[in-house]
Amino acid sequence: MDKKINIAIDGPAAAGKSTISRRVAEKLGYIYIDTGAMYRAVTLLYIEKGKDIIDSLEDVEITFKRGDGNRVLLNQRDVTEEIRSEAVTSKVSEISSFESVRNYLVSMQQKLGQERGVVMDGRDIGTTVLPEAELKIFMQASPRVRAARRLIEEKDRGSDIDIEQLTAQIIKRDELDMNREISPLVKAEDAVLLDTTEMTIDEAENFILEIAQNKMGEV
Ligand code: CDP
Ligand code: CDP
Repeated sequence: MDKKINIAIDGPAAAGKSTISRRVAEKLGYIYIDTGAMYRAVTLLYIEKGKDIIDSLEDVEITFKRGDGNRVLLNQRDVTEEIRSEAVTSKVSEISSFESVRNYLVSMQQKLGQERGVVMDGRDIGTTVLPEAELKIFMQASPRVRAARRLIEEKDRGSDIDIEQLTAQIIKRDELDMNREISPLVKAEDAVLLDTTEMTIDEAENFILEIAQNKMGEV
């Protein structure tokens, strides 16, 4: 039987990371971990409780409920929808730049990856969280295409944000993520670059699965 590997998927907002990571994990029978959801959950708590939570993160429990669309639980409370709100999205890059937040979440993520058989997506997975991952993908797409994809999701959610606002929001968040001091968004040297601008979800999924199968045969 093939050995289990870890797959790290990083890249800017709306490149297709979570959709494709989830599918790859399903196909391989692996666990999918959305690290962005963890930063979003801490940001929601910050908005609700104020800045003191940054220094008492040991009381914060973030868990994933599998099945039923992968629910995100913050101290047992289902926050799956709330963490996608405009208020959280516009604050998350600021909160993610705090050292205590990163230390806390990175160590939680590393524990989840200990047993292998994990597909984890985020910004610093290949560089910081799982630097030993057997397969690293850096997924990107043009800002225009990324904004257009996010627009469809926002409309489905009933939001009236337009394409200009979304493009500006995505570019600003990418800039903050790429320029922060601690584990910024950057391609790991040994990551495979995957540009999904002109790719369907199926094509991107198959691209990753093919390399993953090869890697699984190697370990
Ligand atoms: O899904 P989307 O691309 O909108 O973002 P996300 O993956 O949910 O991540 C939200 C934010 O969390 C990012 O813009 C980063 O500021 C932060 N993040 C991070 O700093 N490190 C990670 N490993 C994952 C997310
Ligand atoms: O996780 P990340 O922010 O990188 O992106 P996502 O939430 O997985 O993808 C953003 C949107 O783009 C989703 O609605 C995907 O279905 C869509 N998408 C697409 O239309 N074509 C692709 N090749 C990849 C993603």
